[in-house]
Amino acid sequence: MSFGQGLTTRSSFLYGTLLGLLGGHVILRLLYRLLPRLVPGPGQWRKPEGHGVPRVTPTILAQPLIADSVCDLVGHTPLVRIHSLSEATGCDILAKAEFLNPAGSTKDRVALAMIQEAEKKGKLVPGTASTIFEGTVGSTGISLATLARSRGYGCHIVMPDDQAKEKYELLERLGATVERVRPASIVDSNHFVHVAKRRAEEFDATSLQAYREAGGTDGQCARGYFADQFENLTNHRAHAQTTGPEIWAQTSGRLDAFVAGSGTGGTIGGVGSHLKRRAPNVRVILADPQGSGLYNRVRHGIFYASQEQEGTRKRHQVDTVVEGVGNNRLTRNFSQGEAHIDQAIRVSDAEAVRMARWLSHRDGLFIGSSTAVNCVAALRVARSMGPGHRIVTLMCDSGHRHLTKFWDDAYVEAHGLDSSIPESLSFVA
Ligand SMILES: Cc1ncc(COP(=O)(O)O)c(C=O)c1O
Repeated sequence: MSFGQGLTTRSSFLYGTLLGLLGGHVILRLLYRLLPRLVPGPGQWRKPEGHGVPRVTPTILAQPLIADSVCDLVGHTPLVRIHSLSEATGCDILAKAEFLNPAGSTKDRVALAMIQEAEKKGKLVPGTASTIFEGTVGSTGISLATLARSRGYGCHIVMPDDQAKEKYELLERLGATVERVRPASIVDSNHFVHVAKRRAEEFDATSLQAYREAGGTDGQCARGYFADQFENLTNHRAHAQTTGPEIWAQTSGRLDAFVAGSGTGGTIGGVGSHLKRRAPNVRVILADPQGSGLYNRVRHGIFYASQEQEGTRKRHQVDTVVEGVGNNRLTRNFSQGEAHIDQAIRVSDAEAVRMARWLSHRDGLFIGSSTAVNCVAALRVARSMGPGHRIVTLMCDSGHRHLTKFWDDAYVEAHGLDSSIPESLSFVA
C-alpha cells in the first residue's frame, strides 16, 4: 500500500468515525427529548390546555413488547381523560380504559388470575380436556372463554336468558358451551351460579372416575373447575395486584377519589384496598344502579332497594337496564373490600342512558352500561369535591357489547327512558 493510499484510508476512517459520532449524538439528543414524552415521570402531569380539544399524546407501550399469547395482552390499560366532564367541573376526571383488554372488559384480569391459580392448585391440568365452568351475566364468561382457548381448555358458561343477545353469540363463536337458564333467585338451586357449580362437579367426578378406571397415574386427568367469580377471592387479589397498582403508578399517586360499581365486588374492593394502603385519604366511592341494595348496604349497613318491594319488581336479578353491576346479596368479594368503601352514590337508569349518549357524542367514548353508571357518579363526586381534584373511574367495557339493549333506543324507550342526546349535563341532578 502506497503512502497516498494509506492517507486516503486513514482519512476516510477518521471521516467515518466523525460521522458516526455525530450521528450517535443526534440520535441521543432525539431520544433525550422524546423519552420523557413517551414515559411521563412523577409530577409531569399537567392539566390539559385549550377548550375541549384533546391533546394527542404518544402511546405508552404496555410491556412486554412482544406478547407471547393473548394472556400477555391482559392489563396495562391506559387512563383516558374525559374532557367534557373535566371541563364542566374543573376537575381532572380520568377513566381506566378496560375495554382495551383482549376480550374487551376488566374481567380479563380476573379470568387470567383464576386460571393461573387453578393451574397452580392442579384444578386445571394443561394439555388435558380440562373445562372451566362459570355462572355469569356475560363479561366474565367472554373473558374465560377467550383465555381458555389459548390454554387449551374447554369452557361451559351458564347464563340467565335475559341478557343482551350479542353476549351469547360471542360466547358461542369463542367455542364455549352456553347454557341459558331462567332468571332465578340466589336461594333457588336453579340460579345460574348453582347450576354452573353442579355442572363442574359432575364433569370432575365423571372424568376422575374414567381416569381411575383406565389406570391413570400420571396426573394428566381432565378436571372440571368451577371458577366462582363471586366467592373466589382471587378476583379481589387480581385487582389489588394489577388494576390498583397500575392506577397508582399512572397517576403518580395523585388522585383524590376512585369511583366504581360493584357486581361481584372484586374491582372496587381490590382497587380500593390497594389505594387505601398507599394513601388512606383517597376516597373510594361505590356507584350503584337503581334496583341494587348495595347503596343501602354501604350507607346504612342493610340491603334494601325500593324496587325490591313486593309486587314492584320487574326483573329477577337487579331491576335496572344496566348490566354487570348492582347486587342484592353479600358476596365474599364484596365483603373482602367493604371496609375500604367510604361512600355510595345511586345512579338512575335515566341518568345512565343519557350519560352514555353524552359521552359518545361529546368525547367519542362509546361505553357500556356499567361505565355509564360510573361516569354519572364520577360527575357527582367532582361537583361535590369542587375544582382542582382528580377523580379516577373505570370504563369496564364498550358499547359494542350492549347494542341490542342499552344502546337500542327502542329498547330503552320501552322502559320509559329518554334516549336523546343531552344538550347539557343538567340530566345529572
Ligand atoms: C360490564 C361489567 N362492568 C362491571 C362489573 C363489576 O365488576 P365487579 O364484578 O368486579 O364488581 C361487571 C361484573 O360482572 C361487568 O360485567
